[in-house]
Amino acid sequence: MKLLGISGSLRKGSYNTALLEATVGLMPEGVELTLIGCGELPHYSKDLDTDSKPEAVLHLLQAVRYSDGVLFATPEYNYSFSGVLKNAIDWASRPAYKSVLAGKPVAIVSASQSHVGGARAQAHLQQVLSATLSPVVPAPPFVVPMAQEKFDGNGLLADEDTKRRLARYIADFIHWVNRLAGR
Ligand code: FNR
Repeated sequence: MKLLGISGSLRKGSYNTALLEATVGLMPEGVELTLIGCGELPHYSKDLDTDSKPEAVLHLLQAVRYSDGVLFATPEYNYSFSGVLKNAIDWASRPAYKSVLAGKPVAIVSASQSHVGGARAQAHLQQVLSATLSPVVPAPPFVVPMAQEKFDGNGLLADEDTKRRLARYIADFIHWVNRLAGR
């Protein structure tokens, strides 16, 4: 199984990117998680969305197309998910209802420095993913509140309870992706 992890933060030292990196270490045998960022993508414009798309867009589309599922990690910005992640989803969402995201199984994680842990960002992201026809794993949401207390000075996920919850969420995701694929 090939999973794709997309971080919605461009920040060096991002907790959300670190969350994806921690998730790579949790993959069981036979499951590979590859990470990509959103930083190279141009702002979406229909004028650029032609037969000769920018290189970074082609890379994103290819990565989503050949994955069995996508794991989004998003920061919460002003009660929503990040603009760069929305931009990436807009690129990957065309042609409408027939895009690489249509029918693609998705999971969402979020980390923020507040007590809410990105829950509001996840709610908005879920709504957008309904427009792209991307089913979201039916599991309790995974959030990391007070992220500054859960990662160590090297940006490694250090909190044992968060690690356990993350492992459970990812196991649920993999199980569900397998089930959807009839495995
Ligand atoms: C934030 N932050 C934030 N946190 C939160 O829980 N709810 C929010 O609405 C916001 N809004 C917000 C807006 C902007 C513009 C910034 C820069 C930050 C804090 C945010 O969760 C924190 O900076 C995280 O560390 C961002 O994620 P990364 O970059 O560490 O992955």
